[in-house]
Amino acid sequence: MRETERRAAAAYAERFGEEPEIVASAPGRVNLIGEHTDYNGGFVLPCAVDRRVAVAAGHAYGGGLLASADFGQVKSLRDGPEWEKSESWADYPRGVAWAMGIEQPFRAVFSGDVPRGAGLSSSAAIEAATALALDALLGLEKDRKELAIACREAENGFVGVQSGIMDQYASLLCEEGSALFIDCRSLEAETVPFDPGSAGLTLLVCDTNVHHAHTDSGYNDRKQTCEDAARTLGVEELRDATEEDLEKLEGQELKRARHIVTENARVLEAADALRTQDYAELGRLMYASHTSMRDDFEISVPEIDTFVDLAREAGATGARLTGGGFGGCAIALVDLDEVEAISEDARRTFAERGFREPEFYEFLPAAGAEVTKRREGERREQP
Ligand code: GLA
Repeated sequence: MRETERRAAAAYAERFGEEPEIVASAPGRVNLIGEHTDYNGGFVLPCAVDRRVAVAAGHAYGGGLLASADFGQVKSLRDGPEWEKSESWADYPRGVAWAMGIEQPFRAVFSGDVPRGAGLSSSAAIEAATALALDALLGLEKDRKELAIACREAENGFVGVQSGIMDQYASLLCEEGSALFIDCRSLEAETVPFDPGSAGLTLLVCDTNVHHAHTDSGYNDRKQTCEDAARTLGVEELRDATEEDLEKLEGQELKRARHIVTENARVLEAADALRTQDYAELGRLMYASHTSMRDDFEISVPEIDTFVDLAREAGATGARLTGGGFGGCAIALVDLDEVEAISEDARRTFAERGFREPEFYEFLPAAGAEVTKRREGERREQP
């Protein structure tokens, strides 16, 4: 078991005096390219990172319970007949149980090491871990795509963020050593090998420590403008819009739609570049994507722009904001031996500009969600 899984299992055993029936975990993700395209029916290219949320779960007799081993908190699952809601981490597992239509009480203890609010999808990781654990605990045998759809439903209908499917899909379907090319309309996904190390490169992630919650960022607002632009154009989703269509738009609708139309094209090209291991081309597309997010979609912040500019000046192959924006993380595809210099340069420049101290991670494309332990022996039936 991984460290996070061991922690969740040990905290479960300590609290309930018996081993958990199921231990599962799910990763966060970085998105290589394709931002805000998912809820427009478009394309994305994320990969899972080796940071995870683990859950130890079992049946409950009486009311269900959710506990966080990291925060030392215990929350109830329901408030009488209603689902409890508390604007906290516990809303994600509650939302998943709600979206999966689960009536049985269960208890679950969580532990994770995905940085929170950093744009690395800690929320999708907790959702995906919960969904997989409940599926195994209750023997539902739903496929990963169905679980991902339920997790998005939790986010949209319970937590209240109108997110697309990318993060949940990545967390449940990514494979080690690969990125996942997803058509967010058909929900077809293709595993594309991604091994930057073979070209002497690594994926450096800069967490600006400008953290956000998409419930109060401009996220839902961006989605609304995209829908308005699609309506103005008379298309179902911006996925269906072309560059020529853009001439019919103006103002914010034009800027937002221009990002989506060009970004979709870039993801298709980036997937091709990855298939042929053309990292120079992938990097070029990453920079272009960043410019489009900064100027047209307007979701970047000075900290992210500073890092991307520094990476470019240092000769990085590519760099861009990753995730929903309004803070969070940037990624850069850099030479293995440039990592130290770029990180140091960014730390110094951030300090000079009065920004928060950034944190850096190097991730290898990691495995998606997994059930890592099932308790031996027969399952106890509910009384
Ligand atoms: C967040 C959402 C995703 C996606 C990205 C932006 O991570 O959860 O669905 O929209 O932002 O690409």
